[in-house]
Amino acid sequence: MSPERVPITVHRAKEIWFTRREGDAIKLVTLMDAALGVDSKGKITAIGRASEFKSPAYLEKIIDHGDSILIPGFVDAHVHSPQLSVIGAGGMPLLDWLTKYVFQAEAQFKHPNVALAGAQRLTRELKQNGVTTAAVFSSVHAVAAEALFQEFDSAGLRLISGKTSMDVGAPAGVLQPVQADITEQEILIERWHKKSSRLHYAITPRFALSCSRELMLALGELRERHPTCYVQTHISENLEEVAAVKGVWKTCSDYLAVYEDHGLVGDKTLLAHGIHLTDSELKRMAKAKATLVHCPTSNTFLGSGLIDLKRVGEFGVHVCLASDIGAGTHFSPWQTMLECYKIQALQGSRLSAHELLYRTTLAGAEALGMSAVCGSLEVGKEADFVVVNPARKPLLAERLAVTESASDRLFACITLGDDRIIEHTYVAGNLVYCQPSPD
Ligand code: GUN
Ligand code: ZN
Repeated sequence: MSPERVPITVHRAKEIWFTRREGDAIKLVTLMDAALGVDSKGKITAIGRASEFKSPAYLEKIIDHGDSILIPGFVDAHVHSPQLSVIGAGGMPLLDWLTKYVFQAEAQFKHPNVALAGAQRLTRELKQNGVTTAAVFSSVHAVAAEALFQEFDSAGLRLISGKTSMDVGAPAGVLQPVQADITEQEILIERWHKKSSRLHYAITPRFALSCSRELMLALGELRERHPTCYVQTHISENLEEVAAVKGVWKTCSDYLAVYEDHGLVGDKTLLAHGIHLTDSELKRMAKAKATLVHCPTSNTFLGSGLIDLKRVGEFGVHVCLASDIGAGTHFSPWQTMLECYKIQALQGSRLSAHELLYRTTLAGAEALGMSAVCGSLEVGKEADFVVVNPARKPLLAERLAVTESASDRLFACITLGDDRIIEHTYVAGNLVYCQPSPD
């Protein structure tokens, strides 16, 4: 079949919402009585008002989503696969929480059956919440990273992940000596990095307190050998943690320098939290084009602090949002957006609905260098999208019926939305999740 003869599926819906970057500004694009054309390779071929939509020459089928709204698939830029069993384990700040709950839970992921079941639970939750791309921390065990890649591959989701590297500061069940760690990562990279356009490897030092200097050096060398791999880690989440890092890494000028000095900071680096970063650190992050991954439900749950996004923005640091399950309390990006809004509102700054949507969609894709592929609904991109059905939650449907502007309707979804309103999730035009019918 010649390229122009690729069959087209048209998705029709009451509205389409997505964000678009225009210079430094972020715009909300809204279409009423809308249609999205997707070819059989999963690419968006057309988007517009259904009434003005030219019937494609090779129309295969029309899927009518009725009164639903199409939005881009969400990007969750930081989530821990072995932590679903500790969600809501409360009462403690970060370092105590890790010691009391997290390391024990992660130690179980050395068992292949636990790792596989964990990966399956994770993909189920992500799809059900409309997340099409996720940057995931596995456990220290290669078998768990392997299970994640296999499971995401078969679930049809986009994954950025790697085994978590840690050799100090935790019980033996979640530590691994440097050489074994690097050897296993080389195998994982060879097997999974860019195995398909949806799968990517991330070098994943847990944080400065769980890596020796020898390990950090080896991870920097690994990155040099594999410059197309991502790097993901944590930074400046909690004041006690920041003080401990200062005590351990005496020769590094600050927390960011621990990663910089080992060649781990660049435009493919995702640094989670960053609540307590200094001006100098923010300046250097912006220069390196590293991303700050803000995890609002985690920050409030652990009491880690209230990040000032206005200040971060003034330094030009790129920011996207994430759940940080299991310190985070919700898989639903609606709830992540809402918590983000509240944290800024408490500091006198009112984020718009479209900024919040941008941070959970296009900003995540930009952080991952994938904005030509996903993150918004533009012709030529792959069709990662979510069918939002407000009728699944009558309170929301009633609220939307009396709300004039699309921006206000988006805000109502952010406030009242959860996985109940996610009707279908598509990745590259493929249906990966379909909510069961109510009966
Ligand atoms: N810092 C180091 N490890 C973790 C983790 O598992 N969760 C969070 N929130 N912070 C961390
Ligand atoms: Zn985390």
